[in-house]
Amino acid sequence: MTTAYAPGRVNLIGDHTDYSGGRVCPMAIDLGTMVTIEGGGRELALTSDQDPTPVVVPLGVADPSTVAPAWGRYVAGVIAVLRPATGGRGRVSSTLPVGAGLSSSAALEVAVALALGADGRDPLAVARSCQEAEQLASGVPCGIMDQLASLAGVEGHALLIDCGTLEWRPVPMPPDVEVVVVHSGEARALSASAYARRRAEVEAAHRPVGEGDPPDALLLRRARHVATEDARVPAFASALGEGDLATAGSLMAESHASLRDDFDVSTPRLDALVSSLAAAPGVWGARMTGAGFGGCAVALAEPGVVARLGLGRTWVVRPSGGARVSG
Ligand code: GLA
Repeated sequence: MTTAYAPGRVNLIGDHTDYSGGRVCPMAIDLGTMVTIEGGGRELALTSDQDPTPVVVPLGVADPSTVAPAWGRYVAGVIAVLRPATGGRGRVSSTLPVGAGLSSSAALEVAVALALGADGRDPLAVARSCQEAEQLASGVPCGIMDQLASLAGVEGHALLIDCGTLEWRPVPMPPDVEVVVVHSGEARALSASAYARRRAEVEAAHRPVGEGDPPDALLLRRARHVATEDARVPAFASALGEGDLATAGSLMAESHASLRDDFDVSTPRLDALVSSLAAAPGVWGARMTGAGFGGCAVALAEPGVVARLGLGRTWVVRPSGGARVSG
């Protein structure tokens, strides 16, 4: 029997930069997913504490995106990529909210991969497999940030990841700051197609323009977000590491404005939530986090401040260690 645990993540800054090789600064959090598997047989059968319908995935699964119930697609994605020689029976339990932008799917993929025997000593290889699993399962052409953050997390630290070189380093989190995630109340319903469109726009913005092509204002805004966001990430990481929360907070505000105005992935509710957070005394900075189109905002604040604002479902999350096999 093998038990593996993988945390979710919150991204502090650097959104929609990972898939074009930019930098990101996520943090593994103290909410996550545990998977226990007793090996054997030609299929993987899992029950979940969040869904009464179990998932049964044959080892030869051809199309993970059609598996039911929907959470089983991520399990099937991992099987389709790793192609384990034996299946098993087991259970999934999770403290992560689904659809909030805290990478519950990445945590499930990573925990399933480790429980099936993927080698956690090579976090990059496991992250790549799980990224591919996510793409097969959801059809979203996601980057590597979520899976790598779940695997490489370091307690008490955020991570500065360069998605071009695929190198990363831990960034110490100042002790007197609380990282708070607040849900906008909007589920990220349309994110699959809109995310794919943004990624295609970023790729188009970096292709040479044909002779006589007019400059496309929309593509220029997309490219400007990616360039300015990428530059903000190391500046943020330095400020955080030095405990300069005022600078870190103003970079978060710039990041939100860029995601809203240049990348068009925020929503009016996220904007209102971020404004309320940023205006509150004791809050250093706030921004939408993750893919956008709904989901959550993240704030850096003095302890206790955000919970008292009563702005919506709120999680105080602690910078936590990465995924591990526990037995
Ligand atoms: C989702 C994707 C990541 C990343 C973010 C936006 O979480 O899975 O790869 O692109 O959106 O930063």
